[in-house]
Amino acid sequence: MLSKESSVVVAATAGIVAAHAEQITACFYPDMLAAHPELLSVFNLGNQATGEQRKALAASVVAYAVHLIDPEAPSFTPILERIAHKHVSLGIRPEQYTIVGHHLLKAVGTVLGAAVTPEIARAWDEVYWLFAVQLIAEEARLYTRAGVDPSRPWESYRVVERIDEAVDVVSLVLSPAAGTEVPHHQPGQYVSVAVDLPNGTRQPRQYTVSTAARPNTLQITVRRVRGVDGAPDGQVSNFLTSAVAVGDVLQLSRPAGDVTLAESTKPLMLISAGVGITPITAVLEDVAARTPQRTVVLAHADRSAEHHPLRRATAASLAKLAETTRYTWYQEPGSVTGTDQEHFRPGLMDLSDLPIPLDTEVFMCGPLPFMRGVRRTLIERGVDPADIAYEIFGPDLWNTEPAPSVPA
Ligand SMILES: Cc1cc2nc3c(=O)[nH]c(=O)nc-3n(C[C@H](O)[C@H](O)[C@H](O)COP(=O)(O)OP(=O)(O)OC[C@H]3O[C@@H](n4cnc5c(N)ncnc54)[C@H](O)[C@@H]3O)c2cc1C
Ligand code: HEM
Repeated sequence: MLSKESSVVVAATAGIVAAHAEQITACFYPDMLAAHPELLSVFNLGNQATGEQRKALAASVVAYAVHLIDPEAPSFTPILERIAHKHVSLGIRPEQYTIVGHHLLKAVGTVLGAAVTPEIARAWDEVYWLFAVQLIAEEARLYTRAGVDPSRPWESYRVVERIDEAVDVVSLVLSPAAGTEVPHHQPGQYVSVAVDLPNGTRQPRQYTVSTAARPNTLQITVRRVRGVDGAPDGQVSNFLTSAVAVGDVLQLSRPAGDVTLAESTKPLMLISAGVGITPITAVLEDVAARTPQRTVVLAHADRSAEHHPLRRATAASLAKLAETTRYTWYQEPGSVTGTDQEHFRPGLMDLSDLPIPLDTEVFMCGPLPFMRGVRRTLIERGVDPADIAYEIFGPDLWNTEPAPSVPA
């Protein structure tokens, strides 16, 4: 709990810190990475270039401070869980919190200048360490549960198969190089994959396990990210989809991630766009194997049939379910043939006239603007917001931007 003195100071300064939070984190990262170049291979440099990670860090610290001083604030547990799982997938260690804390509070001083009195600095230092201690404790619990030594988070996996899934999308089937069993994952979880890039840098990224749990192999499905408007092509996705061959060895973390399928018998709606279909495919395979009596509605949006990954895998799972409906939207519908025409709709996903069973639980994954629009429609259609689970393929910026005014 925040001390009484610090609560007063934080309440009085939260507004100004929030208003400058992105400036503070924008100053923090270059300063810390210059002082600790060893962290360049821990942080996602793509997110550094786009500024997404600094927005996520800023938003989380402000949300944490608000939750400390406002008893009416929404539960902080989901944010804490998401960060802890991400940290654990990257082998973040308690001693690194001292480095982050030092540079974060230094950045507060740099940006806010003389306004930061020793009293204010002390109060925000207390906020930081309360947050840090909670994260360290949760991360210790997750490491212990997975049997992982955080100083050695990476395990070698050999690529045993490469599957061309769709335009620009490749699945890599991986097997532990040591011949050990694959650690169990919950459908919806991801692994971090660390690759040594041709330019000499090492970079980690997260990839969802795109099947239900299997004892000997683990599959990831990667979409090649192409640079638009002069931005460079995505580093790791291009490496994985074009340079990695059967027989190569990759470094993987244990599966992590807090967005998983809850045990339930209620109707389930699985919604995805593009490569957001990876957790959906894993969840669907798991439901088909363990609770095939569940009513499942599958809704997917993509550019075209040729861009639609994991179609065979999802069709195979759907065939095992007692009651299912499938809807597919393609922006370029020219290529739809045969059975795909069933429940096919042209254009962007629109759920406004779809039958949605009572008490439906939703699991969705896709770009943020897409998910914001879908969520709004679902709530308008009577779905309980608490029943909508979502995964984001990047730092969580869900609460940092306004909802778009047009439906996705
Ligand atoms: C929990 C989770 C699960 C995920 N699951 C999957 C999955 O199953 N399948 C999948 O394909 N992906 C998945 N992702 C996304 C994946 O982790 C990577 O983010 C994605 O592959 C892009 O990484 P990259 O290295 O190729 O791109 P990066 O090099 O990181 O680039 C990312 C973007 O930043 C832009 N950029 C980079 N540098 C600059 C610059 N200087 N200026 C302007 N723009 C720039 C690039 O053009 C690109 O659009 C997941 C992410 C998360 C967080
Ligand atoms: C109280 C301290 C910390 C807070 C509040 C914090 C917060 C966050 C947040 C909000 C994210 C994004 C999660 C997501 O939505 O995906 C994140 C990711 C991350 N954090 Fe932390 N963090 C802290 C400490 C640390 C420490 C000590 C390290 C180690 C150097 C670290 C390294 C990382 C890395 C590497 C990522 C992934 C970055 C990316 O993918 O761009 N963090 N953290």
